[in-house]
Amino acid sequence: MRSIPSYTGEKARTYERDRTVQPEWWLEDVGVRRLLGVPESLLDCPVGTGRFADIYRERAIPKVVGVDVSVDMLLEAEAKRLRTMKLIMGDIMDLQFEAGAFELGVCIRLLNWLSADRMEAAFREMARVCRSLLIGISLAPTARPLKQARNFHAQSDFWDLVEACGFTRTKSSSVTSGKDWEYVIMRLDRDR
Ligand SMILES: C[S@@+](CC[C@H](N)C(=O)[O-])C[C@H]1O[C@@H](n2cnc3c(N)ncnc32)[C@H](O)[C@@H]1O
Repeated sequence: MRSIPSYTGEKARTYERDRTVQPEWWLEDVGVRRLLGVPESLLDCPVGTGRFADIYRERAIPKVVGVDVSVDMLLEAEAKRLRTMKLIMGDIMDLQFEAGAFELGVCIRLLNWLSADRMEAAFREMARVCRSLLIGISLAPTARPLKQARNFHAQSDFWDLVEACGFTRTKSSSVTSGKDWEYVIMRLDRDR
């Protein structure tokens, strides 16, 4: 199984510069703006360089916490002086928060870097600590490699997981799509 690259050193410093040229980057922003609302508390994991901080600030979201496993990515986020966001080093597989601690969890550009098993573990941990989720995910009829170290996840497995965690997709925003796959930002809310 191909593994997620580590976001350290030069890779962290050039992360945004190299990605803001991608149309996908801006379509993800559009999706987040459309689906975010104004939650009272928000967990962004992985927060990376804190790319959505301006959006959270514009919405005046009272409590924003960003978690990432990479110190170098967190330093990039910190350099933006994100006073409205608390940054914490941590692992999405083992979040140090109580169940239901956040109204909304944001998880963009991670789930497709993980194997199916690790994606499920990460999703379940976000679902444990967040009452609603905003996630970016690429789905296809069957799991298959995407590009670089990414994988498409299988639609049916993913929807079973969403249901098992008690969520329903309430809204979504398409980022890119192909003949039988789609990369979407979706809002998942509790249905019970
Ligand atoms: C492609 S970046 C996405 C960052 C941000 N969400 C964005 O959209 O730009 C992937 C991030 O996931 C972080 N990451 C990888 N594995 C992680 C884990 N187990 N727990 C928390 N963060 C992790 C990396 O350090 C990196 O910052």
